[in-house]
This record gives sequence, C-alpha cells and structure tokens, in this order.
Amino acid sequence: MVAAGRGERAGGGEPKQFRTIGGVPMLLRALRPFTSHPDVAQVVVALPPESVMSPPTWLAALASPSLLLVPGGESRSASVARALSALAASATVVLVHDAARPFVSRETIDSVIGTVRAGECAVAAIPVSDTLKQASPGLVVTGTVPREGLWRAQTPQGFPRAVLDRAHAAGMEPATDDATLVEALGQVVRIVPDTSANMKVTTPEDFLVAEAIAARDR
Ligand code: CTP
Ligand code: MG
Repeated sequence: MVAAGRGERAGGGEPKQFRTIGGVPMLLRALRPFTSHPDVAQVVVALPPESVMSPPTWLAALASPSLLLVPGGESRSASVARALSALAASATVVLVHDAARPFVSRETIDSVIGTVRAGECAVAAIPVSDTLKQASPGLVVTGTVPREGLWRAQTPQGFPRAVLDRAHAAGMEPATDDATLVEALGQVVRIVPDTSANMKVTTPEDFLVAEAIAARDR
C-alpha cells in the first residue's frame, strides 16, 4: 500500500490519505478490503517518514507483523521498492495499491490475485471514455487519437514476487505505476477490467465525488 505521497494536487495541508471520506480516513478505506481478505497474509504500508514515527492512533492500533508501517521514498516507485524490501520472504504474489483509491472492490482484488496465480502480471484498468486530442505546445490540435484499445491504469496491480523484485532492482527511472517497470522487462501484463468507482482521489473536486460514492455505499 503506497501512502507516502504529499497530496500536493489535493491542496496541501494534511496528506490526502489521512483525510476522511464519509468520516473514515482514506487510507483506512483503502486498507480494509485487503486486511479483511482471507488470501492476504501481510500488508506493508509505505508512509511519509514522520507518520511512521507518529502514526495516527487508528493506524498505530492496526500495526502488527502482518501490517507493517515503513517509510516511503521520494517517488511512488521508491515507496513501492521500500515496502517490497520489508515484505515477508514467504510472499510469492504481491499486489500494489494506491492509498488514494479508497473504493477498491473485492471483485477487482480477486481478479488481480487470480491473474497472478495463473502466471501473469495484472493491471486493474478502465476503458478510456473521452475523445483524445493531440496538440502542439501552442495548443493547436494536431490529431485525434483513436481510443480503441486504450485503457486507464488503476490499482491494484499484481505481480509474481520475483518479477516485481527484478523490476525494482533494475534501476529504471521512477514510473507512475509498477506495470510500466515490468513491461520494460518484457513480461506479459494483463488488463483486469475495473470500474470507475475505484477512482484515484487527486484533486479537491475528487473529494466531492468520493464523498458521494461513500454516501451511496453507506
Ligand atoms: N505515493 C507514495 N510515495 C511517493 C509518492 C506517492 O507512496 N513518494 C503514493 C501516494 O500516497 C498515493 C499513490 O502513491 O497513494 C498515488 O500517488 P498520487 O495520487 O500522485 O499521490 P500524491 O503523490 O500524494 O499526490 P500529488 O502527486 O498530488 O502530490
Ligand atoms: Mg504524486
């Protein structure tokens, strides 16, 4: 679980993963479907270093050998690498999830785990629904990109442990997701169709949408 970001696009202040949605901290919402999953043996949470030193009380209460809190890094990729190095050696299937996605479904988690157990890497994703324009630096449209076959990558993303270890050991440039790193290794990555409810909370407007989803699910 990567929760070590600063949430700058959400407007600064308290990092967004600690802010509440429908009264429940976003990180806690993101954690629950994993901590309650019978096939999830361990969760490692990458946090801002100061939050490892003094976690919120609800998070400190959850910490145990099966829920480790570790300091993240400067980039998302660095945070994944740090969490990975703290993960039990016995883990052979690893899922990476953004703390900024508080509405991940059990169904999506199950599909990602199933794909990895069948020997492939998995990316939860939704089909692109907007029309895509290419434009010059001066904002003149130079073309329309057919959206057929284009997907928006979400999380969780799942990998055989050895593949993810290799991807993070390869010393590549940080990427915005983990699949990018394993694609560069030539691994097969399969799309797991997801839903738009598994949105990433990025901007202040996203908090409004998230509140509405939380109210619907209450
Ligand atoms: N993340 C992380 N370590 C970092 C950067 C990001 O663990 N150094 C995590 C975030 O906490 C989040 C996920 O990666 O759960 C996706 O990142 P993003 O939505 O970009 O979150 P932030 O980096 O916190 O937000 P911003 O880019 O607006 O500052
Ligand atoms: Mg970021």
